[in-house]
Amino acid sequence: MSNKALATNRTIELNDGNKIPALGLGSATPPEDHQRLIDAVKAAVRAGIRHIDTAWYYGSEPYIGQALKELFDNGEVQRKDLFITSKVWPALWDRAEQSLKQTLKDLGVDYVDLLYQHWPVCFKTDEDGLPKKPFDENGAIKFDEKGDYLETYKQILRLRDTTNHVKSIGVSNYTEKQLDRLIEEVGVLPVLNQIELHPRIPQKKLVEYFEAKGVKIEAFSPFGAQGAPLLKEPKVEELAQKYDVSPNEILTSYHIMSGRSVVPRTSTAERVNQLIHLAQLTKEEIAALDQIGIDEPKRFIQEDWGTDIGFEHWKKVPSWEEKK
Ligand SMILES: NC(=O)c1ccc[n+]([C@@H]2O[C@H](COP(=O)([O-])OP(=O)(O)OC[C@H]3O[C@@H](n4cnc5c(N)ncnc54)[C@H](OP(=O)(O)O)[C@@H]3O)[C@@H](O)[C@H]2O)c1
Repeated sequence: MSNKALATNRTIELNDGNKIPALGLGSATPPEDHQRLIDAVKAAVRAGIRHIDTAWYYGSEPYIGQALKELFDNGEVQRKDLFITSKVWPALWDRAEQSLKQTLKDLGVDYVDLLYQHWPVCFKTDEDGLPKKPFDENGAIKFDEKGDYLETYKQILRLRDTTNHVKSIGVSNYTEKQLDRLIEEVGVLPVLNQIELHPRIPQKKLVEYFEAKGVKIEAFSPFGAQGAPLLKEPKVEELAQKYDVSPNEILTSYHIMSGRSVVPRTSTAERVNQLIHLAQLTKEEIAALDQIGIDEPKRFIQEDWGTDIGFEHWKKVPSWEEKK
């Protein structure tokens, strides 16, 4: 039995009085990996992870629901001991309730602990009624010019206040500009802003701005997304050796030791045990990790529809038209 500190014991206090487990399992899994996802969710819960991050858009909720059913039926965990989040996709910007209903049905639960607005943009719904794909046949983004992203937030807030199906409300991919508008026009703070955050893109100003307003930051893509490029950073490897933990755990501890939650993904059940330990990184070590991104900033998630949101170091991906 290892005597290393566990990240699974850490929680973060939110501005509405609820607490979120600092370590969550991400689940934006490619469609062919469904059985792997089911196994990874079960392994994560068995390893003590109590927070699962998902979204209507990922298509993974029915499979997470299968894993949860097995865990609940076996008495391995109870619903009240888990923290499950989901997100409302921009094509459902004016139908948050519809999104939530589908999510609850697929997950097989009757509430989510936190419901996020996925992106502060609005898409048109496809003609076939499937609101997933935001591009037309020419590759152009189908923004809904009549839409207002703040309407989604207001609808999620109403769901929190008028139903028993949402405990806390969050936003994702918001910059300071969108938060200012939200505060001015709605006045009720989200508990969290989930953004891409890791040593290649430390975004210290944005993080400090949200935290000063009382909104916690949660890091997505902590390994640099598909392919996990950050695991190979020499500084990350050096610290992993020093603390006798995996490089993954240096990248999750970087957030947890800074008071943030983090949602790493693995669909490989055996790797779950490389996520659960906490390295007690010093302030100097965290600053040394930040330096990687200060010197060479890079985002790994740069969706076309995010270009105008206002994030720093966002390089526009060429559209289908431009690639021709
Ligand atoms: N709000 C948003 O807009 C947004 C956007 C992106 C992500 N997210 C959330 O954040 C979560 C995490 O982000 P992410 O999925 O983009 O990426 P990530 O957690 O940075 O990295 C996931 C990738 O790392 C690989 N990996 C993990 N450990 C590894 C190891 N030891 N060796 C080699 N590869 C390893 C995984 O492969 P295996 O599965 O094979 O282990 C997977 O391909 C998502 O799942 C989602 O829940 C939210």
